[in-house]
Amino acid sequence: MFRLPNPLEGVTDAELCSEEFAQKQDEKDALSRFRHEFIIPTKGDLRNKKYGPYRKQEVEFGNDAIEDDNDEESIYLCGNSLGLQPRRTREYVARYLDTWASKGVFGHFKSLEGGHPPWLHLDEALKDQTSKIVGALPSEVVVMETLTANLHLLMSSFYRPTLERYRIIIEGKAFPSDHYAVESQLVHHNIPTSALITIEPSSSSSPYLSTEHILSVISQHAASTALVLLPGIQFYSGQLLDIELITRHCRSLDIIVGWDLAHAVGNVPLKLHDWNVDFAAWCNYKYMNSGPGVIGGLFVHDRHGGVETADDPLASQSGNPTNGSDGKLVYRPRLSGWWGSDKSSRFDMENKFVPIPGASGFQLSNPSALDMTSVQASLDIFAMTDMNALRQRSLRLTAYLEARLLRYGNGTPPYKIITPVNPRERGAQLSLLLNPGLLDHVLTYIEERGVVVDERKPDVLRVAPAPLYNSFWDIHRFIVVFQEACRRAVAETNDKADSA
Ligand SMILES: Cc1ncc(COP(=O)(O)O)c(C=O)c1O
Repeated sequence: MFRLPNPLEGVTDAELCSEEFAQKQDEKDALSRFRHEFIIPTKGDLRNKKYGPYRKQEVEFGNDAIEDDNDEESIYLCGNSLGLQPRRTREYVARYLDTWASKGVFGHFKSLEGGHPPWLHLDEALKDQTSKIVGALPSEVVVMETLTANLHLLMSSFYRPTLERYRIIIEGKAFPSDHYAVESQLVHHNIPTSALITIEPSSSSSPYLSTEHILSVISQHAASTALVLLPGIQFYSGQLLDIELITRHCRSLDIIVGWDLAHAVGNVPLKLHDWNVDFAAWCNYKYMNSGPGVIGGLFVHDRHGGVETADDPLASQSGNPTNGSDGKLVYRPRLSGWWGSDKSSRFDMENKFVPIPGASGFQLSNPSALDMTSVQASLDIFAMTDMNALRQRSLRLTAYLEARLLRYGNGTPPYKIITPVNPRERGAQLSLLLNPGLLDHVLTYIEERGVVVDERKPDVLRVAPAPLYNSFWDIHRFIVVFQEACRRAVAETNDKADSA
């Protein structure tokens, strides 16, 4: 198997595990500067029982023994769940609030000196930057609604079951929301849920899904399958799927393929247009750092976004399967709303839906300007670099995390990394399967010491160095606390077993 070059080749163990090594890596990496764009909570902030930042005089904590480090930055490795807040978000949001306060409804329409674009045009303002992150044409993306809602909207357009082709293929450990969404689509179309095919790992001891295995399951059910919906990066294992190859395979079998990019967007470079993906959706609160539950995004390939008039000779070749309500326009069917309708006639209130060509024509409601503002703040940081440069940094950070996890003093670690070892098959995140019974002990210990990672019961910790703000120094500090937590957890559980 072809491997990416190992950025840590030739480094001795002693060197690798030293504080100096981590500090030097941060100093020599030009992208380290982006960390200053983010608010890194201090350990005191996390321990503070009141909301907001901790101030020494005001706050009482619970555990005096470990609170002399309240002013230190926490070790936040949880961008796979919720990205940290960019410093500029507060400024952008304040500008939005000031506009609303001072202009009211005119904020929708008026261009204001030093302000953001009128809210009416915010959806367009975000397209260029978003398209660069997912590798699309600006017309193929739109920031709208939220991830699960967008998957439903996209399936309402792309899942067109027939008597012969009605199955949906997902992976067995799909994020529950995707599972529910797909199952409810089947029910919605009066199709038994047995039409759902799940791709299960070949081995019960590993969540790994080889590309060959994925392709073979798809081939096996191709004759009766209408839709394949897969994650770009699997949320539990952190495995990055071969989006290009799987998409090509589905298309060769005439199967529509959609991608849930929750864990891939802002994490790995994507080329949705060139890879010929039919559709995709994502959220903006993980590696996109735009805030909890914030507005999401979607992609519809150019070939599906056309809007033609019925007498246009090109219309019959467009591949768009049906026409609009008045029979004069030909476009992909969809569940529609007024924000997807042509801007020039949107306010005429004539009940004629004229879809905007491209992804924008899939919009329903006027988007939350507050959410869009928050996404804009984050995109402006991404615009100072690009996904290829971030990926290079991410490969170095994750390789370093992996190398440190694999060095556990003289003993065998009480955990194993279940994310693929090949960097081509993973993004930033490594998932650690702890030996049974250790997770709660380990989590309590590390959380008390200002480490933030996330858990997947019963035994998995997900650790994700986000390339925009995490540092080698974060990883070094994480390893010191985490491995000590493991040693203590093993000792405690052994003691308990001995005294039982
Ligand atoms: C892979 C994946 N899909 C779907 C979702 C659901 O997202 P939302 O709640 O924004 O619809 C999540 C949420 O974390 C996720 O990780």
